[in-house]
Amino acid sequence: MANISEQIKKLKEQLTKELKTSNNSLVIEKIRVKFLGKTGLITNLLSQIKNFTIEEKREFASKLNELKKFSEQIIKEKREKILKQKANAKILKKQSFDVTSYLPEKLKGHKHPYSQIIEEIENIFISMGFDLFDGPEVETDYYNFAALNIPENHPARDMYDTFWLNKKNTLLRTHTSPVQVHAMKNKPLPIAGIAIGRTFRHEAVDASHDFMFMQCEGVVIDKNITLSHLFATAKKFLQVMFEKSEKTSNVNVKDLDIRIRPGFFPFVEPGVEIDMRCPFCKNGCSVCKNSTWVEIFPGGLIHPNVLRAGGIDPEKYSGFAFGFGLTRLAMLKYGINDIRHFYGGKLNFLEQF
Ligand code: PHE
Repeated sequence: MANISEQIKKLKEQLTKELKTSNNSLVIEKIRVKFLGKTGLITNLLSQIKNFTIEEKREFASKLNELKKFSEQIIKEKREKILKQKANAKILKKQSFDVTSYLPEKLKGHKHPYSQIIEEIENIFISMGFDLFDGPEVETDYYNFAALNIPENHPARDMYDTFWLNKKNTLLRTHTSPVQVHAMKNKPLPIAGIAIGRTFRHEAVDASHDFMFMQCEGVVIDKNITLSHLFATAKKFLQVMFEKSEKTSNVNVKDLDIRIRPGFFPFVEPGVEIDMRCPFCKNGCSVCKNSTWVEIFPGGLIHPNVLRAGGIDPEKYSGFAFGFGLTRLAMLKYGINDIRHFYGGKLNFLEQF
C-alpha cells in the first residue's frame, strides 16, 4: 500500500506543477476537471476506497480526503490570483490612458453663421461711422410700443404677436426698435448707431418663421437728416454685404440697385420698404419669386412723436431709422432655406460655414 502514499504524493506534485505554469481561467478549469472531475485522477483514486480493507481505510481515508481538500484549495487560490491579476491589469490600463492621444481632425470649433454675419454687419456699419448700441430683450410696453407711437389699442399692435410676461406691462421685445428710444435718452446728439439682437413673436414655427429671430436696428439723428441719407446708407450696406457673398458671382453687385416703396410703421413718417435687385439672378429665380426684387430693408424718417418721447426736439433735429431681419439676411446670403436650422445644432449644417 506504499503505492497509495506514493500516488498521493505524485498527484500533489503534478497538480502543483501544472497550476504553476498555467495563467488563465480556462486552463485552470481544464486542470480541475483532469484531477477532480467525475473521472478525474484524484476522484478515481478516491473511488478505490471501497475496495480497501478496514485497516487500509483507516490508514488512507483521511490522507485521501486531505488530498482532495488540498487540491480544491490550491485550485481555488490560483483562480483567485488570476482574477486579481486581471483586475489589476484593467486598472493599470485605465491609468495609462492618454486622453490627449485622441485628436479628432473634424471637430474643430468655428463660428456659427449668426456670429459670422453679425461681425460682417458690424464691420460694415462701423466703417460708415456707426456706433454699436445694445438694449434689453425683456422690455416694457412703453419702450416696445407706446414710445414708438403705438399707443394702447392702436391696431398696429396686431402686427406684433407679443409674448407678454407675468409682470404687468412687461414683454419680450417684438422688434429692436425700442433701442432707438433708449439711445435717444442716453446718448448725446448727434446719434448714429446700430443694435443687433434677438426679437420674439408668438408665431407658429415653420420653414420661414420662428418665435425668435434676429434684427438689426439702425438709427441716425442729427440736424437736417433726410430720406436720401437712409437710401444711401441702405444701398451701400447691401452692396458691400452681397459683394462678399460667394453665391453672387454671376451678378455685378458692385452697383446693386435698390428701389423704394412706401411702407407703414407707426414710428416712421414717411415709412418705406427698400428692396434690392435680386443678387442671385438676372431674370427671376426662386429667391426673388421671379420678380428680380428682394424685399429686405424697412425704414423711414423717425416720427416726431418718437423723437419727443426720446427727449429730442423734432423742430431742431430729424433722423432716420431702419430695422431689417438679420435672420432673413443670413438665409439669403448663405442660401439657407429653413429658419429652424439656425438653432437645430446639427453639425452637418453648421460645418458648412
Ligand atoms: N421695427 C420694425 C419691425 O420689426 C422695422 C422697422 C424699424 C421699420 C425701423 C422702420 C424703421 O417690423
